[in-house]
Amino acid sequence: MNQVRSPSFNFYHSSHWLLNPKIHFLNHGSFGATPVTILEYQNELRQRMELEPVRFLTEELEGLLDQARRELAAFLSTDADDLAFIPNATAGVNTILRSLSFKAGDEILITNHEYNACRNAVEFVANRVGAKVVIARVPFPLKSQEDVIEAILSKVSKKTKLALLDHVTSPTALIFPIKKLVTELAVRGVDTLVDGAHAPGFVKLNISLINPAYYTGNCHKWLCAPKGAAFLYVKKDKQPLIRPLAISHGANSPYTDRSRFRLEFDWTGTDDPTPYLCVPEAIKFMGQLLPGGWSELRQKNHTLAIKARKIICQVLNLPLPCPDEMLGSMASLPISSVIPDNLLKEQLMEKFNIQIPIIPWHSLILLRLSAQLYNSPQQYEYLAQSLKKILG
Ligand SMILES: Cc1ncc(COP(=O)(O)O)c(C=O)c1O
Repeated sequence: MNQVRSPSFNFYHSSHWLLNPKIHFLNHGSFGATPVTILEYQNELRQRMELEPVRFLTEELEGLLDQARRELAAFLSTDADDLAFIPNATAGVNTILRSLSFKAGDEILITNHEYNACRNAVEFVANRVGAKVVIARVPFPLKSQEDVIEAILSKVSKKTKLALLDHVTSPTALIFPIKKLVTELAVRGVDTLVDGAHAPGFVKLNISLINPAYYTGNCHKWLCAPKGAAFLYVKKDKQPLIRPLAISHGANSPYTDRSRFRLEFDWTGTDDPTPYLCVPEAIKFMGQLLPGGWSELRQKNHTLAIKARKIICQVLNLPLPCPDEMLGSMASLPISSVIPDNLLKEQLMEKFNIQIPIIPWHSLILLRLSAQLYNSPQQYEYLAQSLKKILG
């Protein structure tokens, strides 16, 4: 019998989401969650498309995409012409890796915090030609950003052709000092592909300031756009090298009013473009939920994530594995579990209605919590007590 009392949601804000009120949803990070208002807007767009599919896709879509891209570019502090909408960050990483030519002996630098799918993509392109995947071992727990910088830069060699670095790491939820890393790598002649799957809406993202060769990010996580909305930024001088994963009409389009990059990425075959077209609405909607807009939203989620990990660490008597400043709206904690990770996850869900990832990472088992407006501190108290009950 579950004797830990289950708290209610943060009702004011949770009413904007469809989330099942019986479940404590502490995993915004994996796939995001889209507010009802945005889903309704998406539905309107879909109805408009289905009313006159040919007109919508051949005459209206280009202008609508241009507008959506302009609004996203303003949010990311970059040039709309350097952005392409893509369905997800996995596609963004694959697009760059599979467009570049590597040869035997080249090195592609990643870290041990890499997201599994993207590491697979790196291994795929490296194995095809006999290139080497070099893994920088960033410690976790760690004391400061310096630990990250030192681990990565010490692995650069004359053969390093590309670094794939996460802006926010997936298993460990760390914000990497990405501007410093991109700058130092550029000084050493290395281009960086930044995987910012979590970054938009999680950190104040300024792509011009970071100035990477390539940057991909999801809009369906912390911007709360519908699933299947992401972007790829490519620096202007690199755009001729980069081709979409699906070659389509843009490759020999006779139009000269826009770049080949634009023509190729704006049509990669028939698909539902409504997730992309909802991105400006998601930016606007989430940005007006609190009086201080996006900066208050990010700060509130960060404060809740910090409070949440403190609660868990106190109840389970765990040390904090990284400084607060390296975190955004998520936090990962190494836990010692007497039961396997999948059973722990299952028990949290089956016995306590808690949805949270338990991630086996190298020799550690990580509990990764997310904090979004619909969450409340009581939910993390409940999580801590539930963990204590399971783990003893
Ligand atoms: C660092 C990182 N890269 C890539 C992804 C993949 O995102 P998507 O499934 O939207 O492609 C994730 C997902 O959590 C991630 O954390």
